Amino acid sequence: MSVKGRIVIKLGGGLITNKNKAKTLDKDAINKVCEVINILKEEKYKIIIVHGAGSYGHILSKEMKISEGINHDIRDKQIKAVKQIRENMRELNNEVIDSLKKVNLNSIGFPPSIWAKNIGKEFTGDISIFEKKLDGEIPICFGDVVDRDDEKEFGILSGDDLMYRLSIEIPDVNFTIFLLGDVDGVMDKPPDNSDAKLISNWKNNDSIQTSHNSDVDVTGGMDLKLMRASEIAEKIDNVWFLNGNRPERILQLVRTGSAIGTKINP
Ligand code: IPE
Repeated sequence: MSVKGRIVIKLGGGLITNKNKAKTLDKDAINKVCEVINILKEEKYKIIIVHGAGSYGHILSKEMKISEGINHDIRDKQIKAVKQIRENMRELNNEVIDSLKKVNLNSIGFPPSIWAKNIGKEFTGDISIFEKKLDGEIPICFGDVVDRDDEKEFGILSGDDLMYRLSIEIPDVNFTIFLLGDVDGVMDKPPDNSDAKLISNWKNNDSIQTSHNSDVDVTGGMDLKLMRASEIAEKIDNVWFLNGNRPERILQLVRTGSAIGTKINP
């Protein structure tokens, strides 16, 4: 079989953790996605995995105002929290690595706190590590607390910004997939509304009602995700939001070009 292209896939924090309770894992959800990633590898796709933080990052980040940078009134507590969040994220990353191992896939985690600096899609760092020097291992990275060059000293680099740069700068990407937890894709209203309907095709100017749960979410929530996804769609034809609890839809998408979910257009 000839080598196919590359799939950049994000396991959202809301899929792999319970977002509201500190450090609660949904190992079943991770395992199920990893089984599908194994099939994609068998079908000769190259894979890059990004994952979110969910309750391994957002709760403590919010409490200690980590996304706002250094605050000299609570400096010591913040520095402790930065260390703790970075540890939590590595722990979560190890769970993903472990689930891949269960289906005989080798992977390697690249914690952004080590190789990346600054926040937003203009962060700096050598992205070429995600295509080079890999001996069949799947590279993984995740939203993390990173150092900043300015007076803020540190901040939060979202997995959505990593998705943008990896999709745009690594060659041969033909699918960029954002996996969500418990929702089929982008909905016209916040998904807790019983009459919320799936939008199967979303364009940059289409407005939807999003609910940004700023009580727990320290990055941009759905709004940031949609903005980054539409920017990716300017270069990549297949940018999709899918329900990560139904990972068989990933297979359907790459095999047929379409699945239940939301296709993002520029
Ligand atoms: C957030 O990353 C990272 C931290 C809070 C440390 P993301 O923005 O990618 O995480 P999710 O997907 O929203 O959980």
